[in-house]
Amino acid sequence: MRGKLMYEGKGKQLYASETDGELIQLFKDDATAFDGVKHDVIAGKGELNCAISSFVFEKLHTAGVGTHYVRREGTAEMRVKALDMMPVEVVVRNVAAGSICKRLGLEEGKVLPYPLTELFYKSDELHDPMINTEHAEMFGWATRADVQEMRAVALKVNAVLSEMFAAVGIRLVDYKLEFGKCGSDILLGDEITPDGCRLWDAETGRKLDKDVFRRDLGGLSEVYHEVANRLGIAIAFDA
Ligand code: TMP
Ligand code: ASP
Repeated sequence: MRGKLMYEGKGKQLYASETDGELIQLFKDDATAFDGVKHDVIAGKGELNCAISSFVFEKLHTAGVGTHYVRREGTAEMRVKALDMMPVEVVVRNVAAGSICKRLGLEEGKVLPYPLTELFYKSDELHDPMINTEHAEMFGWATRADVQEMRAVALKVNAVLSEMFAAVGIRLVDYKLEFGKCGSDILLGDEITPDGCRLWDAETGRKLDKDVFRRDLGGLSEVYHEVANRLGIAIAFDA
């Protein structure tokens, strides 16, 4: 049951629940890009993202990755453990795309020799600048040990998800993770959906993620449905 609204982001809301230490994460139908400059509301997007994220968190749990996920609890709602979030985004890249191409002059599609992790400071105002471990430690966003653990978990997630997507003909190009603390544990929080990943069809290279919205390449709902269908995810919530 949803209680008081505790936090609102561009794509999600977090509500108190009747259980101490647990929150309800609601996925909104809003689609945003370029730090909210481009915005649209796409009916059914929240439900799709909730279904995909729940499926992925269950996979990760089975693989031994600690996450905030408790269970899916409604059409676009999941119950999560309350975390003290670190304002650091961990990006993992298998293939060059997006900002790394601009930053380093790489060609989109270049396969990286091994998975690369990058850190960004979560701040819309500053457009999520890239940072390193020293910045995180100096400004109190995360300790060196926190960063080490987040990187290790991010790479484990990469192994699990790359295999999961490869099995259904999808290439996991890159993605962003956010972590938080729950007592002394560091848990994976936030969401894992095509909003925060780049997913390309393995055969054709067709984009199956939020780049279709960012770059006006077609219908977002259609490609998110395709990702869900390929993974065998039932969208409708059946309590
Ligand atoms: P980038 O190429 O813009 O740095 O993004 C890399 C991946 O991380 C891409 O799949 C999108 C995702 N991402 C977010 O979802 N939110 C963010 O704030 C950032 C920086 C990246
Ligand atoms: N996540 C950011 C936004 O929603 C940036 C992006 O995805 O382009 O505005």
